[in-house]
Amino acid sequence: MCTAATHTHRTSKAAAMLLTIANVLNADELSQARSLLADVDWKAGRDSAGKQAADIKNNEQLPHESEAGRAIRSLVLQGLDRNPTFFSATLPKRVYPPRVNRYGGTENSFGNHVDNAIRFAPDARVRVRTDISCTLFLAEPDEYDGGELVIADTGGSRSIKLKAGSAVIYPGTTLHQVTPVTRGYRLACFFWIESMVRSDEQRRLLFNLDNTIIRLRNQLGDNEDTISLTGTYHNLLRQWADT
Ligand code: NI
Repeated sequence: MCTAATHTHRTSKAAAMLLTIANVLNADELSQARSLLADVDWKAGRDSAGKQAADIKNNEQLPHESEAGRAIRSLVLQGLDRNPTFFSATLPKRVYPPRVNRYGGTENSFGNHVDNAIRFAPDARVRVRTDISCTLFLAEPDEYDGGELVIADTGGSRSIKLKAGSAVIYPGTTLHQVTPVTRGYRLACFFWIESMVRSDEQRRLLFNLDNTIIRLRNQLGDNEDTISLTGTYHNLLRQWADT
């Protein structure tokens, strides 16, 4: 016999997992990154965009093989590597080498778009399926006006502008834009993650479970139940992960 509860239908899609991660770069790394950017040659961002995006992408990017580009890339990858929240939330299989962009002056916006599904990493001949998009802010919010990352979500849109060194991750499937910068320059790192767990919903379940286990262990220490729940986490991950 069915109870009413088993017939509950979801009437709306759950909101996408959008997560901000504070201080991916520490103050020292951030100031290194900023001084690397003090004197660089920017290139038009539309050069690396698909045909459709080229019409709406109006920003500048650091050439991938520039010295500053390489140095900042390794600072960011190192920051991500030691960040347990990033790992738990994205369950990374491959990370597209982070790139740096700038919005300001006459090249100051990127209209609404969905990122290309597959990116080819320039230096490794590796394909990355863009399950998750990430923006890591390199300029402080008071250095520029505008430049919000606006992400369309089921409950409306979310507008993101973070402290320098902090990052936001959001599903690659979402429509998003960067609003025009009307004063100063917005500097940021952007990249994509192919996750071991392709589904946003499954990733979110795992992330919530992981966080709950951590809180329980902090409150109670390890006991039979936390060990059992940890086992459940790993057994779900084993089922869903594609390594
Ligand atoms: Ni985008």
